[in-house]
Amino acid sequence: MMKATLLLAVLAVLGAQSAVVKAPVEIKEPVVAKATPALRYNLNLGYVSAGDRLLYRQYLYQPAIANAIQSQDFIYRGNATTRISAIQVNEVGYTQYAIPSLISGGLNRNNVTIRITSARGYGYYYLIDIWGR
Ligand SMILES: *[C@@H]1O[C@H](CO)[C@@H](O)[C@H](O)[C@H]1NC(C)=O
Ligand SMILES: *[C@@H]1O[C@H](CO)[C@@H](O)[C@H](O)[C@H]1NC(C)=O
Repeated sequence: MMKATLLLAVLAVLGAQSAVVKAPVEIKEPVVAKATPALRYNLNLGYVSAGDRLLYRQYLYQPAIANAIQSQDFIYRGNATTRISAIQVNEVGYTQYAIPSLISGGLNRNNVTIRITSARGYGYYYLIDIWGR
């Protein structure tokens, strides 16, 4: 029943920085979070300050699978001195009611893990920007 399609599996190595996009998985058990129509779920944390750079940009797209909830993790790892100042996870296009959430790491850390969880029967399309220095 592994209908999940691996569309994006990107391992980028820029110096010691890297980002990993795990393959989407179908979630079997029911997920409590039920999207409310007309609500768009983005995740925007922190602020971009002078001197910050766009450390990493990633589009995450997954088509809908009938009756399935899909989930995927995006992991960014900087080097020892990297400090993440802003995390921007914004839906591209019309809303599909997916939910991005912070799993680990984050602001003032050198890594972050973001999980995208789709609504049942929908896909998702997000732009992830990691800012810092
Ligand atoms: C570590 O990463 C930062 C960006 O977070 C970069 O500006 C810096 O040059 C990197 N340092 C090394 C030694 O690669
Ligand atoms: C993120 O960084 C913390 C230390 O700040 C470390 O303990 C953790 O293992 C790192 N996680 C990943 C996924 O690299």
